[in-house]
Amino acid sequence: MQKTITVSAPGKLLLLGEHSVVYGYPCLVTSVNQRLYLTATLIPDDELQLEAPDVKINGYKKLYKDLGTGEIPKGARFIEHGLANFLRKYPFQGGVRIETKSDFSSQYGFGSSSASTVCLIKAISELNGIHLSKSELFEISYHTLLDVAGKGSGFDIAAAIYGGVLYYVTPGKVIEPIEVTDLSLVVGYTGIKVDTVQVVNEVAQLKTEKPELVHSQFETITTLVEKAKIALIQKNWSEFGRFMNVNQEALDRLGVSSAKLDAMVTAARGAGAFGAKLSGAGRGDCMIALVSSEKKNVVCEAVNAVGGQVIPIQTNVAGVNIEI
Ligand code: MEV
Repeated sequence: MQKTITVSAPGKLLLLGEHSVVYGYPCLVTSVNQRLYLTATLIPDDELQLEAPDVKINGYKKLYKDLGTGEIPKGARFIEHGLANFLRKYPFQGGVRIETKSDFSSQYGFGSSSASTVCLIKAISELNGIHLSKSELFEISYHTLLDVAGKGSGFDIAAAIYGGVLYYVTPGKVIEPIEVTDLSLVVGYTGIKVDTVQVVNEVAQLKTEKPELVHSQFETITTLVEKAKIALIQKNWSEFGRFMNVNQEALDRLGVSSAKLDAMVTAARGAGAFGAKLSGAGRGDCMIALVSSEKKNVVCEAVNAVGGQVIPIQTNVAGVNIEI
């Protein structure tokens, strides 16, 4: 039996539809070429061993019988709960050593937790001769996300599994790959790491206090997502950029933009981007701008000039993959 396997999964960026997607509305997401790598090795003892230096986990061990209990460091939660969920469904003898390494910082909001969860379930299932379908892989991974974070739409899990560009409806009700090439983005990192669940909770609070305001923004965003999907298929970049700009206004009304994000959005648009908006929970993480190849450099410079850290990425890449 094979004892070791390495798998990888891509990070993601939300194109349109953040926050409303948590409430069952659709979103558009692209995978990015910065990947998370996970090596799983079967070991004799019934325990989890974890090395994840990118999230400050070194020499972590937990007996199988204690999985999911006691104090779990933040960087180990998804792996530990993911393993517990897998074992409940597919018990296997012996333990597993997990090592992770990421191309990207977990600070960017590219979905490192989701990518590592997907890689874990893929790796340990394959090592045990179980070839999960994409939807089975989604189910266990999404369950794990809910166990750890309490809430979340799961679009990032879908992006890690399927790759490409997806039209997604929670909780994996629709996962539709969109055929698209040449989706060229400039990504600017604010330098601020955001607690996604906290921002999601703040929007939930606003929804309780001002239901009409939030509902109307969600309706607007949904219309934009549907129109943007068509623009994407037609490669109508100026329209797609315009929809991104209107989506940004709606997110601003939900209170999740920030001065830094606004500055980058304005700089990118001023330098000739088709459109620009925050991507993800907001408040920090990243801004994305849709650009032509001619404008890419000048948009990068403009984002840099207002203090954004430009992260070079390519969009629309392969989903979870067995490396060796
Ligand atoms: C965060 O990347 C995107 C949110 O819509 C949360 C989610 O979809 O789980 C804010």
